[in-house]
Amino acid sequence: MNLIEKLCKYKDLSDDDLERLIDNRQYEKALMHNAEEVRRVHYGTDVYIRGLIEISNCCQNNCFYCGIRSDNKKLKRYRLTKEQIISCCNQGYPLGFRTFVLQSGEGGFFSDEELCEIISGIKTAYPDCAVTLSLGEKSFASYRSFFDAGADRYLLRHETADEEHYRLLHPQEMTLENRRQCLINLKKIGFQVGSGFMVGSPGQTIKHLVRDLRFLQELQPDMIGIGPYISHRDTPFYDCPNGELHLCLRLIAILRLMFPHALIPSTTALGSITENGRELGLTAGANVVMPNLSPSGVRKLYEIYNNKLSTKEEAAEAILSLKQRVASVGYNIITDIGHVKKAGG
Ligand code: 5AD
Repeated sequence: MNLIEKLCKYKDLSDDDLERLIDNRQYEKALMHNAEEVRRVHYGTDVYIRGLIEISNCCQNNCFYCGIRSDNKKLKRYRLTKEQIISCCNQGYPLGFRTFVLQSGEGGFFSDEELCEIISGIKTAYPDCAVTLSLGEKSFASYRSFFDAGADRYLLRHETADEEHYRLLHPQEMTLENRRQCLINLKKIGFQVGSGFMVGSPGQTIKHLVRDLRFLQELQPDMIGIGPYISHRDTPFYDCPNGELHLCLRLIAILRLMFPHALIPSTTALGSITENGRELGLTAGANVVMPNLSPSGVRKLYEIYNNKLSTKEEAAEAILSLKQRVASVGYNIITDIGHVKKAGG
């Protein structure tokens, strides 16, 4: 049995097998073809959209790769009001958005009470929509209160599953163990959980990527977000090269084959490194796109990496042209809450 058949049939792939699949361009076509088939079995040609609302760029963390890190004093910081956030949802709903993703840097820039009010405000106004949070590491009690306020999903990328690599990317006070514990807590509470990692981050090896896949196999997340690392001029990694498109595509395809039901976005980062990156991500097995619903005045300020797409098809108001782009590769953006289709469900 060849490698790709093995992957499709879950025939215990060894770490060596995975390394070869990740590392070799020669497997790319077959991987993408098979991933595309598996995606069609579970999701047809449907593409779910999520309206991304970047509620604050304040951040107490100092991750070495990220443009909104606390040491970046050049950045003007902002925080949206509850009214501004609800108004983003009001704009998104008629455009067909049925999931709103609230994303921010990490820290107590909103109290738990404020966040719960925002979450329940959205759920009251739009009971047919999902609220996804992407607010970083919080205590079990905070996560619990968000869930009780009505939040449905939580995105928290593990970034890298290798301890040493984690140390290279993050300051001392952050730990992979805490990240893992947060993900376990989120699952325990009942969130649909998303994790993921950057591709081509500084110091990353193919072995690290295999560890990332193993980490995800253990976690069994509902959502998996990956995208290329992209450098930002005001970070210690300003001169590190960006992640590669083709490596990302192979990994998306491998993820689709390993996690047939997962919700996998074709990320903004992928669209930011190559003109048609997002379309290519869909053809590799991704089934979600996350246009930006943030107020246009703050979009430039949420610059986690340089040259982030924010004004063309990435912008929610340009949904029509995004629909055309998605249709150009044979898929359809649909108006749907877009929950994960669980195995056997
Ligand atoms: N390049 C690409 N992705 C990045 N992220 C943060 N900084 C960068 C960067 N320079 C990703 C992280 C984070 C997500 C919100 O954005 O994976 O979890």
